[in-house]
Amino acid sequence: MSATGVEKRITPPDIRARKGAEPIVMLTAYTWPIARIVDQHCDIALVGDSVGMVVHGLPSTLPVTLEMMILHGQAVARGLTRAMLVIDLPFGSYEESRELAFRSAARVIRETGAAAVKLEGGAHMADTIRFLTERGVPVMGHVGLLPQAVNTVGGYKVQGRGADGDRVLADARAVADAGAFAIVLEKIPASLAEEITAAVPVPTIGIGASAACDGQVLVTDDMLGLFTSFRPKFVKRFADLGPAADEAIKAYAAEVRARTYPAAEHLFADEAPGKKG
Ligand code: KIV
Repeated sequence: MSATGVEKRITPPDIRARKGAEPIVMLTAYTWPIARIVDQHCDIALVGDSVGMVVHGLPSTLPVTLEMMILHGQAVARGLTRAMLVIDLPFGSYEESRELAFRSAARVIRETGAAAVKLEGGAHMADTIRFLTERGVPVMGHVGLLPQAVNTVGGYKVQGRGADGDRVLADARAVADAGAFAIVLEKIPASLAEEITAAVPVPTIGIGASAACDGQVLVTDDMLGLFTSFRPKFVKRFADLGPAADEAIKAYAAEVRARTYPAAEHLFADEAPGKKG
């Protein structure tokens, strides 16, 4: 908290300076109420394109549009006072050319107030990352498992096992050299995540990676246990809100059907309380 009582907003250079220091705490947020809670406890709120699967029930992140990211980004921005807002560039909004990437990133930043964008890809995206960072767009990289490449990879498989580790390491190095201020490492062996964290000069933020990373990120709905059927190995459930919500909705439905809700204490009298005739 500053002397004025107003917390300073966390910036990309602040995150960059956390390399090898205090762990960076990041969670996804797609809505205003969750953003307000994330803001209290985390350094970064990520409007991930996972919003497509988690909130909209889409089969993958591929159908997510720039408009969806901006709408959720605006809602989340209204809930943040301290945490840094990072927004994913969705599939099709940046891969074609560095100019398209800049136009998409500029639109996201202009319309949401985000401090940075995140984009997926290693060495093949380095030129685009350099183009953006040189033009005032802070970029968070994302290597290892790339959910937007689900069709080419053939599923959400662990990346970088055995000899393939060299490829992921080279990707992380290329992204860091191109100017990314931090890099998400998704679903790679713990030993490789440690090697990459030691090798690159910018913070690594792990998801299914290693506690040795400079920070961690999870999808908030996963760590809150909102999904009962989806249990990836790397997600620790810090709460069990799915079953709790199920119980609450079941109880509401039963009370409505039994006409026990609303009860007397939920109803309004014809006259306001305390009003004398
Ligand atoms: O879209 C997303 O939520 C992400 C995180 C899982 C890193 O990219």
